Amino acid sequence: MTSNQEKKIKDIIDKINYHNDLYYNKDNPEISDAEYDRLISKFKEIQKKLPNLRNEDNPLMKIGGKSSDEFTKFNHPTRMLSLDNAMTRSDLENFIKKIIRFLSLKDTNIQFSIEPKIDGLSVNLIYEFGQLKVAATRGDGLDGEIITSNVSTIKEIPQKLKSKSPPKKLEIRGEIFITKKDFLELNEKSKNQFANPRNAAAGSLRQLDVKITESRPLKFIAHGFGVYEEGKKTYYDQMMEFKSWGVPISPYLTVANGIDDLLKNYTFISDKRSEIPYDIDGLVYKVNDTLYQSRLGIVGKTPRWAVAHKFASETAKTSIKKIDIQIGRTGSVTPVARLEPINIGGVLVSNATLHNFEEIEKKDIREGDTVVIERAGDVIPHILNVVSDKNKKRSSLFKPPKNCPVCGSCIIIDPDEVVVRCSGTYICEAQIIGRLKHFVSRSALDIEGLGDKQINLFYKEKIIKNYGDIFKLEKNRRKILNMEGWGELSFKNLVEAVNDKRKIELSKFIYSLGIRFIGEKNAQAIALAFKSKNEFRRFYNNDQEVKKDIFNILENTDGLGPKAIESFNEYSDYKDNRNQILSLIEEVNLVISSLKTVESPITGKKIIFTGTLNSMSRAEAKSMAEKLGAKVVSSINKSTDILIAGEKSGSKLKKANELGIEIMNEESWRKLSLL
Ligand code: IVH
Repeated sequence: MTSNQEKKIKDIIDKINYHNDLYYNKDNPEISDAEYDRLISKFKEIQKKLPNLRNEDNPLMKIGGKSSDEFTKFNHPTRMLSLDNAMTRSDLENFIKKIIRFLSLKDTNIQFSIEPKIDGLSVNLIYEFGQLKVAATRGDGLDGEIITSNVSTIKEIPQKLKSKSPPKKLEIRGEIFITKKDFLELNEKSKNQFANPRNAAAGSLRQLDVKITESRPLKFIAHGFGVYEEGKKTYYDQMMEFKSWGVPISPYLTVANGIDDLLKNYTFISDKRSEIPYDIDGLVYKVNDTLYQSRLGIVGKTPRWAVAHKFASETAKTSIKKIDIQIGRTGSVTPVARLEPINIGGVLVSNATLHNFEEIEKKDIREGDTVVIERAGDVIPHILNVVSDKNKKRSSLFKPPKNCPVCGSCIIIDPDEVVVRCSGTYICEAQIIGRLKHFVSRSALDIEGLGDKQINLFYKEKIIKNYGDIFKLEKNRRKILNMEGWGELSFKNLVEAVNDKRKIELSKFIYSLGIRFIGEKNAQAIALAFKSKNEFRRFYNNDQEVKKDIFNILENTDGLGPKAIESFNEYSDYKDNRNQILSLIEEVNLVISSLKTVESPITGKKIIFTGTLNSMSRAEAKSMAEKLGAKVVSSINKSTDILIAGEKSGSKLKKANELGIEIMNEESWRKLSLL
């Protein structure tokens, strides 16, 4: 950086500090809010290029500064992944079977690493030539927040790796946590400020005042790394190398072959759970061979090569005060039990889902009953069984209503479905509000300060009636400022939190719409079908050609079932939805992140596989072809470019010959795909 640039940065920082002081301490601002905002935006642009700026030098970090909870965004060099859960032996069997099938392995005795799943916060540590350069939170896996100065206070995390020839660049991932014992001590000192060790770790780490972080007993254990080409051949050996460089790794790390061995370790660790000094909620199994890991790749946000084997749940007894009905965003009518509050494993539970009316009947659950409640992880608690005397006089069985208690529409009871539904999809306020809440919720857009409570209020006041309104809050500035509990600062923070989320990945955008059957995975699969923002816009402008093309791709997409496609189609056909989406697109910055592809002779070509491939599974061949930029189709016609023919190719090979389509045998395909 030139001295001129340095001076420019210093000038902006001084200016912000000067105006902060006038605004907050002297209550005598010299510039308008708009001018101040421009100054902040200018600084934020510069800040992106300064990952090492210390918190104490950052005017946005200072408490009392206008945007006191601002941390700089950080784009992870490699995505930080999540894990799928396995609860039962059969879930695990399926996980292993899929791996063996994908890799087309003859030897099915595949090796896994095993580690406890720590209940903490994951961080990404970027080392350059062995020196810690950046530490960032996980965020949504793509973008996190820079917390380098906070992390630098954790003594266990080496500032410099103890290696003679450290790699040029390395991303080490791991968990930051607080031990159970330290948590109890900390909570005693801080008047029970935190609900559990995980919250305490989160509250301690994301601190604007680094001194607070420094005073907290944070610990770290590594559990992974980003792309590392010079890395070891196995995960286990890699972790051992990290250990020799001074990075803490799990003392329980081990390897096992096959399901019985995995389960033995599971029982061993779960029996030891209470002796382990920190909270764990299961085990993580990873394919040990790193080459296999990269061949297996990821589906959406989760790797095919790892899984979290969760521990069983905890239970407690209490009584049902009342049964209520809730209408979900997809119209589902869910009975909910209001309970006499009860503490289960450290969490106060006062509601339990009754799932559906069939469940109530099957378990014969009634108001006033004493019941056993089960709670596992983040899942909503549910009722296992009734324990009170069923011969005693009890209230009558709770039946589904005929009409929606919110909008009065008919309740539909489909004999093929257990869930009963309100038919007022687009008029039922409970469904509309439910979709709005989902849109801003943590798993969707995650807008800070806009939760269920605010959505209820803003909907009632007609400030937020649809998704687009969320991005036009400025229009209602006066109205909101007149509402109880709202002031200039809280309004400004809310608008900023919304603005922060204008950049949205298409898959997240689609997921956030809350369409029935379109969860995160299906949304990702659908998003991949769109090549550009313009194509997405044309789709919602009802361009028939684009629609035909997209549905053709969706029908050929692995793992995307007909129900999901039909639901997406129905949603996208409804005029009001289309209009809402079209105006919403104008408010946000949609990011179309297509699969990262490698330029190859088949880039942009439509290819089709037929017959049996001996060297790899069809799924692996397809994912390789997609990485090489080809589009894999399932039916052959004039527009198909290449047919890859394995053994016993039949009618498709014949048709390819007739149509004069290029034909490739397995040998040529292998050579090409190993490029
Ligand atoms: S591996 C390969 N290993 O669990 C996928 N994660 O649900 C990356 N976690 O975000 C994670 N202990 O914060 C892995 N031994 C462990 C873990 C672990 C805790 C957390 C991690 C991750 C989340 C995934």
